[in-house]
Amino acid sequence: MNVIRATETWQQAGAYYVRIQAMAKKHHITLRQEFDAHDTPETKYIVVTEDDFPIATARMYPLDKQSVMIGRVVVLPEYRHQGIGTRVVRECERWAAELGYAKTVLESRDNKVDFYLQMGYVTCGEMTDGDTFRCVRMEKELSAGEKKAMIETERLILREYAPDDFDALYEILSDPETMRHYPAPYDENKTRRWIEWNLENYAKYGFGLWAVTLRETGEFIGDCGLTMQLIDGESLPEIGYHINKKYWRRGYAKEAARAVRDWAFRNTGFDCLYSYMKYTNSASYSTALANGMHKVKEYADPKNEISYAYCITRGEWEQKYGK
Ligand SMILES: CC(C)(COP(=O)(O)OP(=O)(O)OC[C@H]1O[C@@H](n2cnc3c(N)ncnc32)[C@H](O)[C@@H]1OP(=O)(O)O)[C@@H](O)C(=O)NCCC(=O)NCCS
Repeated sequence: MNVIRATETWQQAGAYYVRIQAMAKKHHITLRQEFDAHDTPETKYIVVTEDDFPIATARMYPLDKQSVMIGRVVVLPEYRHQGIGTRVVRECERWAAELGYAKTVLESRDNKVDFYLQMGYVTCGEMTDGDTFRCVRMEKELSAGEKKAMIETERLILREYAPDDFDALYEILSDPETMRHYPAPYDENKTRRWIEWNLENYAKYGFGLWAVTLRETGEFIGDCGLTMQLIDGESLPEIGYHINKKYWRRGYAKEAARAVRDWAFRNTGFDCLYSYMKYTNSASYSTALANGMHKVKEYADPKNEISYAYCITRGEWEQKYGK
């Protein structure tokens, strides 16, 4: 399933396909009513596709300098009750936050108020009779806690770290079992520094380790991303991963690492991506292997005694995964 920011006309046709299938026919909304004054070149459309077929949509347009109106949120009936509507609205919120808006506003149908309440919206008006439905205006402040999403996968969202990730990260980095291939578990200061280091990385390189969160619930379960690491004395782009042990062996590291690999080859000019680890860390090198990498080096490393380095080249990636 893909959540697309539909900027091309052919993608926006998907928005109208869904609207017409799910709403226009059922509620007798004419084409004349469907295209209205808010469909302008500035209007943003989200389209969700399943096997390249449009199944859900939403529209978003500016109300003023601070806020955008989200509307026309529709999921085809056979795809409802699977969290797709939530994904559509969340994507609108992320897009609005990236564009610098502080608030999203919507007119909820009377029977959808609970859906928006659980997404953090509050009502800000009376229920009124609209053209087609009884509606109430609801809104949500975006500035608090909107974090920049970088990568989406089937089950995960990788987003930038924020200082309030400290507790969930500390649970991972302070755990002796999780950190048994590191010189020692991290204390609070080192954990804080880890988040700061990644915020610095985003500013300096445009990448870093990103928070790995569950798409369904937003729960922070670890991190994965790209950082520059000294590997046998050379500064090289490295894919790293740390997953909360509650979630080990469910394929999350593999899913995140593959998405980071694809992101890196598409968005940077690096011709080789690496992962390195202490020679004892079989979970880590199994993840590198599952990421299409092969071992290129074993070397003495004061931190790890012996480190293994794994690598995948751009050529191998293109050949194996077809870009
Ligand atoms: C390394 C780590 C991120 C893997 O996370 P995960 O979500 O459990 O990994 P996945 O479920 O995606 O598994 C990825 C691959 O590793 C294998 N694997 C996972 N844990 C393993 C273990 N303990 N021993 C051997 N293989 C293991 C899986 O079988 C899978 O390979 P496959 O697809 O060929 O079957 C996790 O063990 C971790 O957080 N470790 C502590 C932090 C760390 O050491 N990070 C690496 C620093 S170099």
